[in-house]
Amino acid sequence: MRHQVCIIGGGPSGLLLCLLLRRAGVDAIVLEQRSRAYVLGRIRAGVLEQGLVDILHHAGVGQRLAAEGFVHDGTLIVAHGRRVHIDFKALTGKTVTIYGQTEVTRDLYDALDAMGAPVLHEAEGVTIHGAETDAPYVTFTRGGQAQRIDCDYIAGCDGFHGVSRRTIPEALRQEFEHVYPFGWLGILSETPPLHHELVYAGHERGFALCSMRNANLSRHYLQVPLTDRVEDWTDETFWAELRRRLPPDLAEVLVTGPSIEKSIAPLRSFISEPMSWGRLFLAGDAAHIVPPTGAKGLNLAASDVWYLSQALIAQYQGDAAPLAGYSAQALARVWKASRFSWSMTRMLHSFPSEGPFLARMQAAEVDYLAGAPAAQTALAENYVGLPY
Ligand code: FAD
Ligand code: DHB
Repeated sequence: MRHQVCIIGGGPSGLLLCLLLRRAGVDAIVLEQRSRAYVLGRIRAGVLEQGLVDILHHAGVGQRLAAEGFVHDGTLIVAHGRRVHIDFKALTGKTVTIYGQTEVTRDLYDALDAMGAPVLHEAEGVTIHGAETDAPYVTFTRGGQAQRIDCDYIAGCDGFHGVSRRTIPEALRQEFEHVYPFGWLGILSETPPLHHELVYAGHERGFALCSMRNANLSRHYLQVPLTDRVEDWTDETFWAELRRRLPPDLAEVLVTGPSIEKSIAPLRSFISEPMSWGRLFLAGDAAHIVPPTGAKGLNLAASDVWYLSQALIAQYQGDAAPLAGYSAQALARVWKASRFSWSMTRMLHSFPSEGPFLARMQAAEVDYLAGAPAAQTALAENYVGLPY
């Protein structure tokens, strides 16, 4: 097989890149190791920046999002006895949209199907060859048959555990990592949201987040020790702990019910530099991971994909400069979003091993935030997404 761009990974990054390229007449193919049902079954992000919403409209997949997504003008932060409403719209003129990553993925599949784009599922043993040469190719096995795709460029969109980043020689890449001493236990339940906006709660027992997908579907998270397993948490213990971490008036109105999904994700900050090697270009979680507190993972994947799609399209039109500058351009935004995610995580989680000094610093930070419009604006600007 021969295609212009071979995309490894059919998560949101890979599917969106394929759609943007194909809409511009670039022949791209996606190789995904899992089944479509598996990819669609992963419950992940839920907050879309305006930048991602705009890209989805540009790619022709904004219809359902416009009809079913919920626009949020702000969010509520409750911590250290303070209640801070961050009014995104008043402070920045921008908003965010609540629409699940699963739904984004489904819309992307539908659009790719409609245009007959090749998305090959259950591609095993994907291996990148000759990325540093002018004739790269990818090999894999599918349905027991060995296959090979020759291409001009390879896009590594295969997430944190994928093969693409590790194909770049170790001597040529630098990894920056910070692992947090806790994870997030998340549940999805067919219950109404706690509040009309997301509630980020900092509490001495640990962080909690009350999010949503629609009027009768809630997504809630609790900070938990890394040693906890999902089986350790019944629905009853989850709801009781969430109640304890909320202010009394919110705890009182929390509607509980059976969970329909429950999982634990560890928190880490990770960035691998550079995001390219020869004709291989990384995008999304393949190159970086942020702790979820700032709701940035999916949105950063989208800005990478936007830069990369525009650079590849320019390359085929004879302008090589954007592709040469892709890694530096993407990393500049990645570092700023990572800083924001790290600072939100530091401000709102409990770090018992760091003692009472940090807890007082956190209280002072929230106190300052509550009274300082400038600090609220800085938080809002980052939350709604820095421009790209
Ligand atoms: P992925 O979504 O990881 O997609 C990569 C794809 O590549 C996968 O489909 C994988 O099967 C495939 N793949 C991997 N290896 C290979 C291979 N060798 N060959 C072929 N295909 C391969 N972000 C938020 O903003 N909020 C959240 O609440 C949130 N929760 C999360 C919970 C979890 C458990 C995880 C892991 C992430 C979460 N994120 C969250 C982050 C967000 O979901 C990711 O940033 C986003 O999915 C990145 O998209 P991606 O396409 O780059 O990577
Ligand atoms: C969700 C996840 C986040 O990490 C976040 O900061 C906000 C919302 C969610 O899954 O809805």
